[in-house]
Amino acid sequence: MSSTNGTRPVRVTVNGTVHEATVEPRTTLSELLRSQLGLTGTHVGCEHGVCGVCTVLIDGKAVRSCLTLAVQVDGSEILTVEGLAAADGTLHPLQEAFSAEHGLQCGFCTPGFLMAVYALLTEKPDAGEDEIREVLGGQLCRCTGYQSILRSVMRAAAQFRESKLEWVR
Ligand code: FES
Ligand code: FES
Repeated sequence: MSSTNGTRPVRVTVNGTVHEATVEPRTTLSELLRSQLGLTGTHVGCEHGVCGVCTVLIDGKAVRSCLTLAVQVDGSEILTVEGLAAADGTLHPLQEAFSAEHGLQCGFCTPGFLMAVYALLTEKPDAGEDEIREVLGGQLCRCTGYQSILRSVMRAAAQFRESKLEWVR
């Protein structure tokens, strides 16, 4: 229910933890995550849906959090990049693959790539190079030239097919 000043409460589960917050109708999910919940691993670049750095999962689907209003995700399960590593800090296999294959330089784009690829491989474990390239094409990276990112994802995809249990968050 909205208040007299237009704000309204939302309740979201982020990386397994329930959060309650009060937001304005115009508050975006990226603002909620970064400014109110302190989860600054989700980056913000273009703020109009082009670069993909703000990608998170909402109920298992990769979504641009800069284009999603916080009120739209009331009651949803959200996974951000902070939710990929294990509780003891052990990197997720996808993060390990990016590290091993030098899939990042400045790292600004990396959270978006990780979440977009995580969504693809959990939904389609047998995704081939063409499908992977299509997802990578929806994310902007100004540093790497993409080849090392593609190698990272191909390595991660092979690992995922071998041991899915280590993957799913
Ligand atoms: S910041 Fe969301 S797509 Fe660029
Ligand atoms: S690693 Fe710098 S923008 Fe991708």
